[in-house]
Parts: sequence; structure tokens; C-alpha cells
Amino acid sequence: MFNDIQQIIEDQIKIICAANDIALAALKWTSIPFAGEWGMATSFFQTAADAARAGQGGGKPVPQRAQELAEQVKGQLGSVDGISRVEAVRGYLNVYFETSSYARRVVDEVLASGTDFGRGAPKNERVMVEFCSPNTHHSFHIGHYLNAMLGESLARLTSFAGFETIRASYPGDLGLGVITVMWAYDKFYKGQEPAGIHERGQWMLKIYAEATALLEKKDGETPEDITRREVFEAERREMYKKWESGDAHVRALWQETREWSLAELRDILAMLKIKIDVWFYESEVDEPSRKIVDELIQKKIATDERATNGPVIVKIDELLGLTKDKYRTAVILRSDGTSLYLTKDLALAREKFEKHHVDRSIYVVDFRQSLHFQQAFKILEIWGFPQAAKCYHLSYGYVTLPEGAMSSRKGRVVLFKEVADEAVKRVLAVESAKRGDIEESQRVEIATQIGLGALAYTMLSTDNNKDIVFDMDTALSFDGHTGPYIQNAHVRASAILRKAGGTAESGQPTMFNYSLEQKEVELIEQIAKFGAAVEQAANEYRPMVMAAYAYELANIFHSFYQVIPVTQTEDANIRSDRLKLVRAARQVLANALNLLVIDAPEVM
Ligand code: ARG
Repeated sequence: MFNDIQQIIEDQIKIICAANDIALAALKWTSIPFAGEWGMATSFFQTAADAARAGQGGGKPVPQRAQELAEQVKGQLGSVDGISRVEAVRGYLNVYFETSSYARRVVDEVLASGTDFGRGAPKNERVMVEFCSPNTHHSFHIGHYLNAMLGESLARLTSFAGFETIRASYPGDLGLGVITVMWAYDKFYKGQEPAGIHERGQWMLKIYAEATALLEKKDGETPEDITRREVFEAERREMYKKWESGDAHVRALWQETREWSLAELRDILAMLKIKIDVWFYESEVDEPSRKIVDELIQKKIATDERATNGPVIVKIDELLGLTKDKYRTAVILRSDGTSLYLTKDLALAREKFEKHHVDRSIYVVDFRQSLHFQQAFKILEIWGFPQAAKCYHLSYGYVTLPEGAMSSRKGRVVLFKEVADEAVKRVLAVESAKRGDIEESQRVEIATQIGLGALAYTMLSTDNNKDIVFDMDTALSFDGHTGPYIQNAHVRASAILRKAGGTAESGQPTMFNYSLEQKEVELIEQIAKFGAAVEQAANEYRPMVMAAYAYELANIFHSFYQVIPVTQTEDANIRSDRLKLVRAARQVLANALNLLVIDAPEVM
């Protein structure tokens, strides 16, 4: 956020070096944490090392030459507004800010930019974040919710960082799992579906679990059991064939049951305030994916073994000249002419690149599909899509409960809706006891914000390579690394401002020309780091970076709240500055929470 000052100094350094025939290496700046004053530093080691390599620099050791350069620059640097002093130490140029001017700038910039504080300049690149792509004929479980949070948070981050961002979803609406539910529904349950959107999802899950049990080989089967199982199996196969050939009855059944899942998905997305821009469906790329196969054969990327009753394959490792197994060989068309999940992803990627002009393509999908995406991205590269280099699989682990893992096959899953309802219910119970002064409808709204905030933070604060063990009590705690802890900082800031009477401080100029307390210093410093955190989280595709930032900011704010009097401050100027600092902190807390898909309540 001090880019302009940094630029002014850099320009001066360039002029100084040019005048002295010094080939200046690119400068990197780091900030100097407060120790009586704030500063930023850059080193001349690279420049000195380059000179030594080129046989210049008089044969002096690099550290000595770097220090000489730092001193030379220091000696010739003119004065810069807001800078109090400059120092040359061990090859570094340290530039210090006038404390009051630094504080003023940080706070004023937040207050002037508001919800835009931290927003990056347009990057002229289009990113597509594909997430929330569950398979239909299933219910929305907590793993899908983790996916939704990662995707939405990432999309908000990339968009805020300056990428043009498109949100896409790609539900899997065909395949054996889908047919299994349809078969069992048609045979045993036709016409009995429950009314509610979410009840239907759970119910399909139950049907799926029953159907897999019926179709599974078991120990100790009697001949009748075996016959019955084989009849079921044949019926399911028959239904699959009919679906493929477009049989009217089966297709209608498919449309009806598929819509149940999609309706539930849309309902949950609305509840989570997620708006998908583009919907792709696996069924819609099935046809295009078959066409791709011929093109890949023609280009000699794929090998056609159908003449010998084999499949069409891509020998990825062989094409790349790799001798060890890495991407292996992938099947892209079965011998019976059906296409695979991978083939459909190739068709989908092409559509993303050619129809939606996507430069960067992010796939938020769990870790089990990691080889699948490595293969897909490699084939795209071999096929000649330059965008393949900017395809990224944002992978994540399981969500488990303290009592163990989930299994759809066994019908043992943790439904998101149940967890969310339970979280809100628990918060509401506490709220109602505590806040009799708030109206019931508002209490429900606040409890929803806190309950969902707690869930979202749990999902985003864990490194996405690790499994999440979800524990409701921990998530809902007002202490530690939780959503409510951060929301509570926002609530406390809001309370201070309310107490001071709205915009009491707004007419006053920002000064900060008093000796700042430690907690004020820390708060200002953390606020100043927001833009860098946005940039890092977006560029590394890691919402966790923002989760950690938000926790740190809340943590500092809570300590500030404990020790710094604000409304009680006697001196009117100091009081006004502190109110502004609180307002700025509140704004940045809100901005950070928004990037984490968490609401920022005013009271709780
Ligand atoms: N429907 C798939 C599943 O539930 C996820 C789709 C991921 N996206 C993709 N482009 N393959 O496993």
C-alpha cells in the first residue's frame, strides 16, 4: 500500500545507478516491522553479485560491495515526503516512515476505499473457478460443502485480486450411480417421493444404499439369492442401455429424478449466497467427447486398438518419452464405444478455452481425482492448448467426524443441511438466553450468520491437503481459530462506534501525532498487510492464507479492545484518531470475512 513511495525511491535509485554506471538488479522490498518506527528495506547484494560475475566491482567481496552501493545510494537520495530517514546497513538500504504519516495513510486509505480496500488492479486475465460439481441422485453432504466454500472463497479472492472471474459448476448427471438410483426408484418406490427438497436428496441416498446392498455379492448366498441378484443386475444394465439409446420412459425418469438433485443444489447455493455463472453437465459433453476421440487419433496422440477389440488409449508417458510411470496410459474410449470421465473432461476443457476464453482454469475437486487431472492437463498440453499450463487442480481431503469417515455406498454421510441446521439451533439457544433484548427474527438472522460462519471458517482454515475433523463444539466456540471469534471482533468494533455515536469522528482530520501504543501499532501494521494477503491467497489459490490473516487481525483487535481506551479517551484528537482506527479495523475485518464467505454481524 506504499507502492507509490516505493516507486519514487526506486526511480531515484535507478537514476543514481545509471549516473554511476552501475547495472542495477531488480529491487525487492520487504517491510520492516515496527520498532519505534515503520520502514521498508531493499538489498544491493544481487547488484553486487552481478557486478562481481561480470568482472566489475574491483574484486571486492560481494557483501562489502553491496554495502558500498547502499551507502552511495543513501548519500545521493533526495528527501521524499513521508520518509523520516534512510540508513545503509550490511548491504541494505533501510527507509523509515514518519510514524504519524504512515498511520494516517493506512487509516485514511481504508476509510476512503471502504469495501474496495485491498482490491488489486485489473490483471487482464480470465479465471474460471469450477466447483460445486456433485453427482446428481445423491444428497449434498459436508464434503460437498467444503468444496463449495473453497471454490466460492477462491472465486471471491481471484475476483478481488483483479482477475476477471467466472464461476462454473459441472454436476455429474450420468453413469452407473445415477442409473442405480433410477432403477431402484422405478422398481420399488415410484410415485412415493417425499415433498421437501432436502428430504428428497436424503431419500435418494437411502435408495442408493439399499440398491447397492441388493446388487452386491454376499457370503452364503442361496441359489435363489443369486438368481434374484442377477435379475436385478440385468434390469439395471437394461436401463442403462435404454438411457443411452434415448428411450422415452427412461429419459423422462432421468429428467425427473435429476431435477430433484439440481433443485436441492440450487437451494443450498442460494442459502450460501453463491451464484454460479455457467452450468455444465456431464451429460452435455458426452456427445462432444466422442468426437474428440477421432481428432486425437488423427493427430497421433491417441492409439486406436478397436480393430483388435481393444479401447482407444493415450500412452501419455510414452508420448512424453518418460521411462518411469508418471501419467501412465489413459483409456479415452471403451471398446464398446462409450466415452469416459476423462474424455468428457477433455471436451469440457476445450469448451472452457474456446467458448469462454478462459486463461486460467481452476478445478476444485477432492484429492482422489488427482491422477485424473494430471492426465487431463497433460493430454491438453500435448494436444496443443497453451492454457494447459494454467490449469490447476485445487485438491482437498476428507471431512470426517470425530466418530469416523463417511460412505455413500453405505448411506452413512453427514448431510450439510443437518449440520447447518444444528449449528444455527445451538447458536440460537445461547443467543436467546443471552440477548433477550433482540427481536426474535433478528436473533434467527444473527444465529444463522454465526452458525454458518463457524462452519465456513472450519472448512477454510484447514490446509486443503489435510483431512478436516469436524467437531461442532470447537467450530462454534467464540475462542481460538473460529469464525465466531473473528465475527466477534467485528461486533466489538461496531459496538464502540455505536457508543461513540455514528460518525462522530468523521469531520476531523486524521492526525496520529501522539506516541502510539503497542496494540495500536500492531493493528495498523496488520491492516496494512491486507492487500498482500489478498494477492498471496489469490495467486497461490489458497483461501487458507486469508483465513490465517483474518484470525490474526481479529486477535490483534481483541487485544487492542482490552487495553486501549477509545470512547473513554480524554484528548479529543486522540479519541478521534482511535475511532477512525476502529472504523478501519472493522472495515478490513468485514472485507476479509467476505472473502471467506462469512457474514459480518453488527451484534451477537
Ligand atoms: N462430479 C464429479 C464428482 O462428484 C466431480 C466433477 C469435477 N470436475 C471435473 N471437471 N471433472 O466426483
